[in-house]
Amino acid sequence: MTPLEATLFVVAALVVVLLLRRALGSRTFDVSRFAGVLAPFNALRFGVRRALRFSRGVPRLVNEPKDSLFAYLDADARARAHAREAQLREAYALGALAGCSSRAAYRENLYVLDVLDAHVPADALEVEAEDSRVVVVDVGSKDFVYASALAAFARRRAGGPIALVGVELDGHVIYRDLRSRADHARAHASLAGDGVHYEVADFLAYQPPSPASLVTMFFPFVTRFALLQWGLPAREYRPEALLAHAAQMLAPDGVLLVVNHTHEERAALATLVQGVATLEEIASARLEGSLVDYGEDVPERTVTTLRRLA
Ligand SMILES: C[S@@+](CC[C@H](N)C(=O)[O-])C[C@H]1O[C@@H](n2cnc3c(N)ncnc32)[C@H](O)[C@@H]1O
Repeated sequence: MTPLEATLFVVAALVVVLLLRRALGSRTFDVSRFAGVLAPFNALRFGVRRALRFSRGVPRLVNEPKDSLFAYLDADARARAHAREAQLREAYALGALAGCSSRAAYRENLYVLDVLDAHVPADALEVEAEDSRVVVVDVGSKDFVYASALAAFARRRAGGPIALVGVELDGHVIYRDLRSRADHARAHASLAGDGVHYEVADFLAYQPPSPASLVTMFFPFVTRFALLQWGLPAREYRPEALLAHAAQMLAPDGVLLVVNHTHEERAALATLVQGVATLEEIASARLEGSLVDYGEDVPERTVTTLRRLA
């Protein structure tokens, strides 16, 4: 094969992968059975990201005015969203975040806080006598844009210092501004204040300094299709092991909170939980909120609250 033919072949292969990724993002027809085609490309790109470990340093977070936060909602829903925002801002002292975030980032924090506030049982973050730091672990934190919400929630419930860690397997993805996911995550962790950290690590290899009072999973991969569509190698599909590991690091009576995108994912989670003897489901509810802009997506989000059996 000549160099020109080789180049044309690589370009054609990339175009096919891009078209496939777009098709997989479509909700108009079921393409999930073809997702396996992406697996080798995902493995290759993930391997390159991990080898390069590209970083350009922590970015400065840019603020946007928060006046038209919910312009995508109709008048009634907008009034409700503004009222909830005011309530959460006051209760969780969100001033620093409100003054140093994009509108989308601020909304995502509100959304996470709204979920935690409504679905984590009141006694979940009670402080252990011998260790005054409440430990919270977030699994698969992406760029940890919601670190401030998790930290504010944990501090308020614990009434004292916290150790919050966001653990992300694929932290070396490069964003459009040529900074990495981890670069952005560290900016958000720093804004969230003392005791907040982000680690690029496999959750299965991560162990917190002491048992966790709360473990959160926002949109974990409980179907193989979602994982491949996201861009991870097929071998990283290990939902049972992730749940078992979360259960193992929880203190007795500690809480695991899982948010899923779809009814199919919620059903998959319920089946997986049956395989973890130390976890008990205590509640499951549909999330109705409109604090984030779903665009054309039809939200079917659910939150499941589980407890580690003593
Ligand atoms: C659908 S994304 C959700 C991201 C984030 N929680 C959010 O709500 O925006 C799932 C995340 O889990 C991460 N992930 C998957 N397997 C993981 C593992 N074993 N350890 C740590 N993170 C993992 C993925 O890289 C991805 O960023």
